[in-house]
Amino acid sequence: IEIDLAPIAQGQILSLIWRGKPIFVRHRTPQEIAAEEATPLAALMDPQADADRVKAGKAQWLVVYASCTHLGCIPLGHRGDWGGWFCPCHGSQYDASGRVRHGPAATNLPVPPYSFVSDTTLRIGEA
Ligand code: FES
Repeated sequence: IEIDLAPIAQGQILSLIWRGKPIFVRHRTPQEIAAEEATPLAALMDPQADADRVKAGKAQWLVVYASCTHLGCIPLGHRGDWGGWFCPCHGSQYDASGRVRHGPAATNLPVPPYSFVSDTTLRIGEA
């Protein structure tokens, strides 16, 4: 599916369903990007650099599966101690890169396959 990014304001999170699975598309703020890029890998439960979770030159767009990696609840955006997502089911927390920062979840929100068709159009699915 293709998504028009133009209406998604900075700071907003779009929720959608792709192939029966919930997905978040987050338009990150410069402050969020800077914080995630500055996070040391040693501070992470499932170490992965922010740059490896976004497309080069498009760090403002984060695309992740929206199911908590613990038992699959949908986490709430802009909540929790890291400002990313908070899962109300058992308290897992994620940062604005979708990386798990507090359990019981132990792994990051996975990044689905996607590509940019243009500066304002995202295609989710195999490129
Ligand atoms: Fe999210 Fe358990 S399903 S913490």
